[in-house]
Amino acid sequence: AGNRTFTMIKPDAVENGHIGAILAKINEAGFRIVAMEMTALSRKDAEAFYAVHAERPFFGELVEYMTSGPIVAAILEKDNAVADFRTLIGATNPAEAAEGTIRKLYATSIAANAVHGSDSDENAAIEGNFFFAQRSRH
Ligand code: CMP
Repeated sequence: AGNRTFTMIKPDAVENGHIGAILAKINEAGFRIVAMEMTALSRKDAEAFYAVHAERPFFGELVEYMTSGPIVAAILEKDNAVADFRTLIGATNPAEAAEGTIRKLYATSIAANAVHGSDSDENAAIEGNFFFAQRSRH
């Protein structure tokens, strides 16, 4: 049991062969994977998922990038999942991410930053439902 967060392994990390290493770090940190899918985002999917960033100057780049290749989406469970996962992944900009964090180890740039992590319990539920609306409850 515990709280849930939502993650994506982003196209750069998939392309660079880091799915296994990232999942291992996630498990070693005490998260249980409760749903997981390798998939790809359509432009519509990416625009909807990142709608909160629609007015940001980097929105076009973000949508281009997130539709550039396959991703792995997953729901993770652990006590204090949202905050602990953000600690595990490190700062948005890998140049500022702490040693040993997933972004420090595997990210390419601020846009191609290897992984997504929800920023609140509310968004974790919304984002998880975006990918796993039916199946994760079974
Ligand atoms: P994340 O925090 O998962 O969700 C929003 C994403 O926007 C963020 O990861 C980055 O990948 C991306 N992003 C944030 N800032 C920039 C930026 N300055 N330029 C390009 N992409 C960005």
